Amino acid sequence: MAKQAPNSNRREFITNTTKIAAAGAIAASTSPAFGFHNSVTDTLKIGLVGCGGRGTGAVVNACKADENIQIHALADAFMDRITECHRVLNEQVPNKMLVPEERMFTGFDCYQKLVDSGVDVVLLATPPHFRPMQMKAAVEAGKHVFCEKPVGVDVPGTLSVLESCKIAKEKGLSVVSGLCWRYDVGVNAVMDQLLNGEIGDIQTIQENYLTGTLWHRGEDPEWSQMEYQLRNWLYYTWLSGDHIAEQHIHSLDKAMWLMGDKPPMTCYGTGGRLVRTNKKWGNVYDHFSSVFEWENGAKVFSHCRQMAGCFNDVDDYVVGTKGNAQVLKFKINGEKVFTGKKPSMYDVEHQELFNSIRNGEPINNGEYMVNSTLLSIMGREACYTGKKLKWDEFIKSEEKLGPKTYEWGDYEPLPVRKPGESW
Ligand SMILES: NC(=O)c1ccc[n+]([C@@H]2O[C@H](COP(=O)([O-])OP(=O)(O)OC[C@H]3O[C@@H](n4cnc5c(N)ncnc54)[C@H](O)[C@@H]3O)[C@@H](O)[C@H]2O)c1
Repeated sequence: MAKQAPNSNRREFITNTTKIAAAGAIAASTSPAFGFHNSVTDTLKIGLVGCGGRGTGAVVNACKADENIQIHALADAFMDRITECHRVLNEQVPNKMLVPEERMFTGFDCYQKLVDSGVDVVLLATPPHFRPMQMKAAVEAGKHVFCEKPVGVDVPGTLSVLESCKIAKEKGLSVVSGLCWRYDVGVNAVMDQLLNGEIGDIQTIQENYLTGTLWHRGEDPEWSQMEYQLRNWLYYTWLSGDHIAEQHIHSLDKAMWLMGDKPPMTCYGTGGRLVRTNKKWGNVYDHFSSVFEWENGAKVFSHCRQMAGCFNDVDDYVVGTKGNAQVLKFKINGEKVFTGKKPSMYDVEHQELFNSIRNGEPINNGEYMVNSTLLSIMGREACYTGKKLKWDEFIKSEEKLGPKTYEWGDYEPLPVRKPGESW
């Protein structure tokens, strides 16, 4: 397979908006440096790392959240993804776009170039493998961060995000997590009541994320193994963390929320791949079932499956000593506790982020986004190994997933894990 760098040539980016954008960039350079954004009239320059579906959407959410925003830089491993993102943003938020070719960055080090390009706020939406290094670079450079979930794919990387978040706190920077249900008005209405004891002590939670299949971006003889994996990152554990971490984390995060964000003692589970069996699907599983056990006896039964043509259900079923609840249906003991019209949680997370920056009251979602990511990795590892894992031992894992250095070549991912086999 090809070893050359993919389409990183900025000249391949052809748009008639470039000259306008470049002119705007000169005007934009007069905005104040980091730390002086308390005035609502200051312009906040944002940069996106990972110009795919979610990242592009997050930029639009940011533009809706705050009037004085400029989209200052775009970074992605691949130029064609930047081109498409730029096209969509030009359609949806044309007045905010100030990204000349010089501030479109490609390759593995694109995030560092973006961080160094004069942005105030960095939006991180690449495959999660790269989040730890990107968080570190952003925080070290004094940038506020919006950080998609999960925040890592292995224990060392995820714990390093906690360190970055501590530094962010010391520097007065905001870190807002893409664990979006924490910003959903309806879910908050339910959670407030449950955490106030409305159904007594929580005994069990059943977390379902039973859903269909997601995209696959095909293959191209021009792509190296590495490029193929990055383009189809969902199917490689080293890039996505597997779907229990990449998608089901939304459910596990709600379970952690209900358990006071305290980690469990143990976890065991079972999983495998029954449908996505050929090489096209990399090395991830297509189903996981895990049981997490807390010190007080509470248990979370977690199920996630990505298969077409099956029963689908995404919800959280909570049973307490005095009743029950269904979180995503906003129901407690069968009654709806939230019926109003609610704003998009994706908009709310950005409203909170930019308000926090404007008001000088930084938000730091670091602890829960790290703990929920670790929980999802623990579930995965319990299923991959077939062992019963103890949290205290699990978080000492030194296993780092992915290559030691990043280059366009024939990187061979690990084989599909088989429970019971030592590793
Ligand atoms: N909160 C939510 O509801 C939600 C929804 C969807 C996705 N997400 C998360 O957002 C992230 C992105 O997901 P997506 O659906 O947008 O995927 P995507 O594939 O559409 O976008 C990811 C982009 O990152 C780029 N990329 C890959 N490796 C890179 C690297 N090393 N440096 C820079 N760019 C790189 C890809 O080329 C791609 O354009 C994931 O972490 C995902 O879990 C969150």
